[in-house]
Amino acid sequence: MAKLENKVAVVSGVAAGLGEAIARRFLAEGAHIVGTDIDPVRGAEVVDELGERASFVAHDVASEAGWEQVATQVAARHGNVDVLVNNAGITRMGSVEDISIEDFDRTLAVDLRGPFLGCRLLLPLMKGRGASIINIASVSSFKPQAELVAYNAAKAGVALMTKSIALHCAQQGYDVRANYINPGVIRTDMLEKVINQVENGEALMQSYRDMHPIGRIGEADEIAAMAVYLASEEAGFITGTGFTVDGGLGINP
Ligand SMILES: NC(=O)c1ccc[n+]([C@@H]2O[C@H](COP(=O)([O-])OP(=O)(O)OC[C@H]3O[C@@H](n4cnc5c(N)ncnc54)[C@H](O)[C@@H]3O)[C@@H](O)[C@H]2O)c1
Repeated sequence: MAKLENKVAVVSGVAAGLGEAIARRFLAEGAHIVGTDIDPVRGAEVVDELGERASFVAHDVASEAGWEQVATQVAARHGNVDVLVNNAGITRMGSVEDISIEDFDRTLAVDLRGPFLGCRLLLPLMKGRGASIINIASVSSFKPQAELVAYNAAKAGVALMTKSIALHCAQQGYDVRANYINPGVIRTDMLEKVINQVENGEALMQSYRDMHPIGRIGEADEIAAMAVYLASEEAGFITGTGFTVDGGLGINP
């Protein structure tokens, strides 16, 4: 029995990596997909491959007007939303001393304001139907790195913001759950590109593996599996919490 039969799922950042894997897995579980991305070309290509049960909206998650457009299109096509996956995200490196103000602001805008706007603008379409919000945070939401000051701030914000949203929805009797996932380092196109670009790519990859007590990095499908669970009725008693899917990275001292 498919776990998401006929559910309507909005997945941001569908053009690559985790978003693409989550959309594919949701589709295989019977869902209808509205995929969104800032990259209109690759986003449309991915969604075309998914077939008739998927559609695409190009937008910037940091823009309120962009999310209004998503809400309008989803309402016209499906009438409501059962699952929202706020997945789109960026990483801009830099410590408190050297990150540019522009990079700090953009990271917060995409990684924190983006999920906030997604929840705010799609909530009216999610009420009263056992809907599920899944925000993609990171091990970086609780494990600091000096060079990730903006990303750490944004992802920690996503974690507590998700709990606040879960509490609000429960108090209002909306029948909407909200949870987040903390992935460890996951094999995506982006990671492969980084490995291929640096001089000591294999050494860097080995250092990523070594960071995970389990001895390897994760696969996108392993995050998608957790997203399916949180989206499904099996997770009906779970709200306001985070699931860390990281091969033990978070417990590595
Ligand atoms: N890959 C990892 O190792 C890892 C680990 C922990 C957390 N995460 C989180 O998982 C999520 C997905 O990461 P990924 O590795 O798949 O990244 P990715 O770069 O492979 O894909 C991100 C997608 O989001 C889109 N996007 C970027 N900015 C956007 C914007 N402003 N509006 C709309 N779309 C936008 C990109 O075009 C891209 O298609 C992110 O939130 C990231 O922080 C990833």
